[in-house]
Amino acid sequence: MARAAWRVAAEMPTLEKTMKAIVFENYPRSNRLRLREVEKPTPAEDQVLVRVIAASVNAGDAHRIKAPLPLRFLLSRLMGPRNSQLGTDIAGRVEAVGSGVTEFKPGDEVFGVCPGAFAEFVCAKETKLAHKPANVSFEAAAASPVVGFTALQGLRDRGNVRAGQKLLVNGATSGVGMFAVQYAKSVGAEVTGVSSTRNLELVRSMGADHVVDYTRQDFTREGKYDLIYDAIGNRSAGALQRALAPRGLCVVAGFTSFPRMLANIVQARLLRGDRKVVNQSIAQSLKADLLVIRDLLEQGKVVPLIERSYPLSETVDAIRLVGTRRARGKLVITMN
Ligand SMILES: NC(=O)c1ccc[n+]([C@@H]2O[C@H](COP(=O)([O-])OP(=O)(O)OC[C@H]3O[C@@H](n4cnc5c(N)ncnc54)[C@H](OP(=O)(O)O)[C@@H]3O)[C@@H](O)[C@H]2O)c1
Repeated sequence: MARAAWRVAAEMPTLEKTMKAIVFENYPRSNRLRLREVEKPTPAEDQVLVRVIAASVNAGDAHRIKAPLPLRFLLSRLMGPRNSQLGTDIAGRVEAVGSGVTEFKPGDEVFGVCPGAFAEFVCAKETKLAHKPANVSFEAAAASPVVGFTALQGLRDRGNVRAGQKLLVNGATSGVGMFAVQYAKSVGAEVTGVSSTRNLELVRSMGADHVVDYTRQDFTREGKYDLIYDAIGNRSAGALQRALAPRGLCVVAGFTSFPRMLANIVQARLLRGDRKVVNQSIAQSLKADLLVIRDLLEQGKVVPLIERSYPLSETVDAIRLVGTRRARGKLVITMN
């Protein structure tokens, strides 16, 4: 350990001891986000100190802030009221590495996941990072890990998406949905994307073969799909089953409310026949999948849709917009 500390100190290019970070004060009765000056982290043996250049907001950040009172109480008890870091996706430059780190060195451009991403510096585990492709911006890299893990594990692992399949993506302009549409096209599926009128052209521009305007058409009453990937979670399991072809499968990744989710899980288990509706569990941040995401980005098979970038001080506005479920693609936080 002493050697690790010496290496870190030797490689630290600046003497800054503090940094700016968004701190989530998670008190059960009032939770708030504050931009604070906090201690700069020091990497442990298996960690990499990253100067964050871009981070991105996920639906999970909005869910945490809007969590119902009992859940907030539980989280504040488990994690401590001031120990609640928000943000997961990062892209940046390596500042220093712990003594056990072999894959990265100071100066490397990296992306991946780390709790507390809304900060100028993070200490990420080596296993949660990958090298950022040189032809991909920090913003695009930061926009990709969580939605990429979710879409890959939902479509590839749970849905077994294949060339020639008829696939419908509900919520094609959500962060998860835009990744899912482009990934499915890259494997040769015939993709239908569901969005509102204002976003139809955007869905076509991502490569979707067909579009459905949910303000005018109900996709559960038209068309039969081999696979449905639901990144919204606003339909009942029965309605989703209706839109499936024989032996079809629907994977639900979207979450609208706990009562809806629980009702859907129960209803899905009661459905009869060979058309199945299943809920996707929480996506895992796997190194192997981060490398797949890196390749998809590098080869231009997935180009993240970024609606807007915000400075760190306006993180709360970005999380609020994600919480309205109207954000297109991803919202990115960029550091100075
Ligand atoms: N299982 C997991 O591990 C995991 C991980 C990440 C996310 N998720 C879940 O995945 C879902 C998507 O999250 P996200 O952050 O990617 O996106 P999001 O911010 O929740 O999605 C916003 C987008 O959805 C569109 N939308 C809203 N209502 C719609 C509807 N009725 N039909 C079709 N599109 C609609 C909006 O476009 P319009 O304004 O045009 O309607 C907007 O572009 C969330 O429910 C989240 O909880 C699950």
